[in-house]
Amino acid sequence: MATSGVVDDPNQRPPVIGAAEEGETGPRRRDFLGIAATSFMGVGAVAVVVPIVNQMNPSADVLALASIEVDVSKVAEGSGIKVSWRKQPVFLRHLTGKEVTEANAVAASTLRDPETLAQRTKPGHTQWLVTMAVCTHLGCVPLGIVPSENRGEYGGYFCPCHGSQYDTAGRIRKGPAPKNLQVPEYAFKSASTVQIG
Ligand code: FES
Repeated sequence: MATSGVVDDPNQRPPVIGAAEEGETGPRRRDFLGIAATSFMGVGAVAVVVPIVNQMNPSADVLALASIEVDVSKVAEGSGIKVSWRKQPVFLRHLTGKEVTEANAVAASTLRDPETLAQRTKPGHTQWLVTMAVCTHLGCVPLGIVPSENRGEYGGYFCPCHGSQYDTAGRIRKGPAPKNLQVPEYAFKSASTVQIG
């Protein structure tokens, strides 16, 4: 008769201590090996992907074209300049106080593409209107960046292709263009330096 923990029969083999643990550790080892292999494959995949992504990154000269800095210190009130950014023309216009007042006098809710001048300019620089020089109808370059050009009925820009007219905030007021002149991403780096892009 066996009492707890005592083996009476000499032929009876005592339980192998640790057998249960070995049975458990087998799969665990396999799990570990599987995880290790997967991790290794992951590292391999990253190692392959990184050079591909690096190859896709733009080169330094392309990055330089991605943003430009424009000196506006010599742009007189009431006039403006046209620059090229990413092969697209951009207007930088120095509005007069009267042009700012005219733009602010219009209720945005009455406009085809409702936006205020403040929404289209930078705080503290509302006299500087920076827009793409691309009519939102079919892409012609509007007139009006300098006072000698036709600025249309609203004192902003006039598109000679099909007659769209923009106001002093570059907002569409008349003609077939559906949207205001687009405002690109830009920032003032100093009082007279504008970074576009
Ligand atoms: Fe400007 Fe048509 S492209 S009105």
